[in-house]
Order: sequence, then C-alpha cells, then structure tokens
Amino acid sequence: MKFKRNILITGGAGFIGSHVVRLFVNQYPEYHIINLDKLTYAGNLANLKDIENAANYTFIKADICDFNKIMDIFKQYQIDGVIHLAAESHVDRSIKDPFTFAQTNIMGTLSLLQAAKLTWESLPEKFENKRFYHISTDEVYGALKFDGTLFTEETKYQPHSPYSASKASSDHFVRAFHDTYGMPTIVTNCSNNYGPYQFPEKLIPLFINNIRRGKELPVYGKGENVRDWLYVEDHARAIDIIFHKGKIADTYNIGGFNEWKNIDLIKVIIKTVDRLLGNLEGYSLRLITYVTDRKGHDLRYAIDSNKLKKELGWEPSLQFEEGIEKTVKWYLDNQEWMENVTSGEYLKYYQEMYENK
Ligand SMILES: NC(=O)c1ccc[n+]([C@@H]2O[C@H](COP(=O)([O-])OP(=O)(O)OC[C@H]3O[C@@H](n4cnc5c(N)ncnc54)[C@H](O)[C@@H]3O)[C@@H](O)[C@H]2O)c1
Repeated sequence: MKFKRNILITGGAGFIGSHVVRLFVNQYPEYHIINLDKLTYAGNLANLKDIENAANYTFIKADICDFNKIMDIFKQYQIDGVIHLAAESHVDRSIKDPFTFAQTNIMGTLSLLQAAKLTWESLPEKFENKRFYHISTDEVYGALKFDGTLFTEETKYQPHSPYSASKASSDHFVRAFHDTYGMPTIVTNCSNNYGPYQFPEKLIPLFINNIRRGKELPVYGKGENVRDWLYVEDHARAIDIIFHKGKIADTYNIGGFNEWKNIDLIKVIIKTVDRLLGNLEGYSLRLITYVTDRKGHDLRYAIDSNKLKKELGWEPSLQFEEGIEKTVKWYLDNQEWMENVTSGEYLKYYQEMYENK
C-alpha cells in the first residue's frame, strides 16, 4: 500500500510516545507510522495493544544510536518526517548514570539527524516536504524563583541536571542542523506530563500505586518545589498541530498554565485515591515521608505557552481536576498493567518476542 507520508516516531513505546503513536495511527490512516524503540526498561508495547495490528502501523525494535540501522530504516521506509521522543527521561537515573543519558540523548539524536540529512540530501527534492521534529523539555531552561516569571522561547538555556544538560545539548544539535545544512527542524519544550501509561518511577503513578498498597510516599525536601503539569493527550495534540503547522526552525513552549507545589499536588492525589478506594478523607496522609532533597533540585518550572496559543491555536483542553481524576481512575482500573511493569514481566515478554528480529 502506498502511503501519503512515512513518519518515524522514536520512543513510541514510552509514556508520551505511545500517546503520540496512537493519535497519529488513528487520526491519519493515510500515513504509515513507524514506531522505533529500543524497549529499554521504559518502553512497553503493552501501551499500544489497541493499535498494534493497524494497517498503517509498524514497530521496529532498534537503538537510535545504531547509525547504520537508522540509515537502513530511512531508506527502506522512505521516511519523510521524524517525531523524535526516544530518550532517557528520568532525572534521578541521570544523577546516578550520566553516561547513558549523554549516549542516548545526545549521540542518539545526532545519529538520527545525520541519517535524516544524508538520506534526504540524496533525493532529487532534498529537504522539500521533510520535517525533523524534536521533543524536548522545559528543564533545559534551569530554574525559576517564586516571582511569577515564566519560561518563554527566549529564556536562555541553563540546565542543571545531567538529564537536562543532555536534552539541552540535543536541542542545540537539532538547531545546528538547520543553521548549518538547512534541515527543516522544529524543537518544542514541554512541562511535566501526566496521564495513563507513565512508568511508575515518576511521581504521579508512583504515588497512586504506593497509596493503593499502603506504602510510604517519599517527598523530596519539604515538597516546596513547583512544577507545571500538562495532561499527556494535550501534549500529543500539540505535537500533531506543530508537526503539521509549526514554522520550520522555530521553537514552541508547551505547558499547562497549571503550577503545583509538589506537596499540594501529592495531597490532591491522596484525596482522589482515598475517595475512589472508599477510604476516609485524609486516611493516606500518614504515608507522606519527607526524604533528603534531590541533588541540584530545581525550585520552580513554569511555562509560557502563549506563542503556541496565538500562532497555532493550541491550548490545554483538560482542567487539572478532570485530568487527575481520569489518571487516578486509569491506574486503579489497570492493575494488571501496573503489576506487569512493577514486576518487570513486560520486559521479559516483549524483549524475548523481539530478540531475534
Ligand atoms: N515525561 C515528561 O513529563 C516530559 C516532559 C517534556 C519532555 N519530555 C520528553 O519527551 C520524550 C518522551 O518522554 P517520556 O516521558 O515518554 O519518556 P519514557 O522514558 O517514558 O520513554 C522513552 C522511550 O524511549 C525509548 N528509548 C530509550 N532509549 C532509546 C534508544 N537508545 N533507542 C531507541 N529508543 C530508546 C524507551 O524504550 C522508551 O520507550 C523524551 O524525549 C523526554 O525528554 C518528557
């Protein structure tokens, strides 16, 4: 079957990637969606069960750092668009093992950029109708004070953690490929996402699961750090709009206009889980345990996404109360998914399945 476009989505078995893959597969039957993922601990194909047999979907287990393989995939599938989400994404892991973050996030991005450039430059139409869209984070901007200021697209980069330093570096490489070779690139920097299918090392799914099991809720420092939260499907929708209508070489910030102090967010999660489990209000507050703060913990992140709203008409569709209710319900209703992830069963299952492919 001849498709109108062949789009490579990297990291599509992860949290945000799986929502982006689902949206593109369902919304664009005329596109071939090629999901390339290494299936690290964070990649789980169970996140895509509902679309895995779609006629316009192909999964490839591969490492973005494997340049020769990436070159082959570009040629074989005639890739004309890239939405790049594959990354090591957990700040705490980056503090323990920065090498893996530099390898995947910097070298992996460079390998994709170079494969796209060499493949596209060799075609008669070159970069025409091509697009390389890199998904990044607001953490590259560093930290804000409690003074009401927001990160804009002009805020200078000041990453503090090995994770954000590696993402900042990959953002620079993407822009350098536009400035040096004229590659049609776009970068977006998004705030914290929440919603279904997030690996339970991240705050929201970890705490929902711990409350359900009566386990401690470790809160860094005094829980004073502030993050801006966006429902993951709203992020996926922004990616769709920007992929199609965003200006080449431009940057867009994506955020929820939804700042929460960690401790206040945790109390909302406790309240919601307790209510849905039929516990007395406040029952699980006893599980809060303050632990030594994360090294270099950025105080506050907050995004100004007005440019995206003004230029492309995107804004978050879900109120936080609605989003958190949906999210808590999803994790409570999907115990099997959670148990497979926490026990590591999913890794064995899918890695064996793709071992010799
Ligand atoms: N989660 C957030 O709140 C957030 C916010 C802003 C930006 N981002 C960015 O969005 C992207 C996706 O984040 P996420 O939270 O879904 O991450 P995730 O950790 O859930 O998923 C990452 C995916 O990338 C895959 N991967 C890792 N290394 C790979 C490699 N070498 N080759 C191929 N695949 C590889 C993993 O298997 C996994 O499926 C990342 O680039 C992240 O920096 C995340």
